[in-house]
Amino acid sequence: MPVLVVNVDHVATLRQARMGREPDPVTAAHLAELGGAHGIIVHLREDRRHIQDRDLALLKETVQTNLHLEMAATAEMHAIALNTRPHMVCLVPEKREELTTEGGLNLVGREQDLRAYLADIHAAGIISSLFIDADPEQIHAAKAIGAEYIEIHTGHYADALTREERMKELRKIREGIGIAQDIGLQVNLGHGLNYTNVLPFAQTPGIREYSIGHSIMARAIHVGLRQAVQEMADIIRTFVP
Ligand code: PXP
Repeated sequence: MPVLVVNVDHVATLRQARMGREPDPVTAAHLAELGGAHGIIVHLREDRRHIQDRDLALLKETVQTNLHLEMAATAEMHAIALNTRPHMVCLVPEKREELTTEGGLNLVGREQDLRAYLADIHAAGIISSLFIDADPEQIHAAKAIGAEYIEIHTGHYADALTREERMKELRKIREGIGIAQDIGLQVNLGHGLNYTNVLPFAQTPGIREYSIGHSIMARAIHVGLRQAVQEMADIIRTFVP
């Protein structure tokens, strides 16, 4: 059964707007779990614009499901991952000037470096995932690196302005899932997914996790976080495995 993993970065973004104590992403994670989240994701950025080190440490102590850490492949984050030992680490590209992650990681030509980067992480029993575009070359590179999972970037699909463009992106993602399955990679999806654009994946087999943040937090403002998570988890639960 595919599952929902909830990204709570936006709760920290709101807190950091006033550099205060509320709202707390740790409380949000607890509510998300009560709403049916199968895991909690945070992205600890180099510039600490939302999630702070304190959040990660407390989440590690309190998350009852699985804690996933999104991070750039830097030496600092490597040490933090080994120290924190989340369930899964997902390597993402990071640019200081971006509003949010803008695209997948480029793995081609970096296979050896990233394999070495992940060696200690794997040895510590942490599962690895690589956030990439649905590009066959990148998918094969992920396999060569030795990651267990890829997370296919759904941002281009979510941002598509025309039906034609959206269908083209959807086809690419579906083909990417097929390639990944054929070579033994597990597949997660994430970025820009919401309560409607997630529906075309209902009949697409082979997706393990949906990583969703913004649309759930946006709905939570109106209906409460627990309900917003429950509604998304209910949708995803009906999808084919
Ligand atoms: N997956 C990755 C790798 C991301 O960087 C993000 C955004 O932080 C998400 C999923 C969730 O995207 P959204 O907030 O648009 O649902």
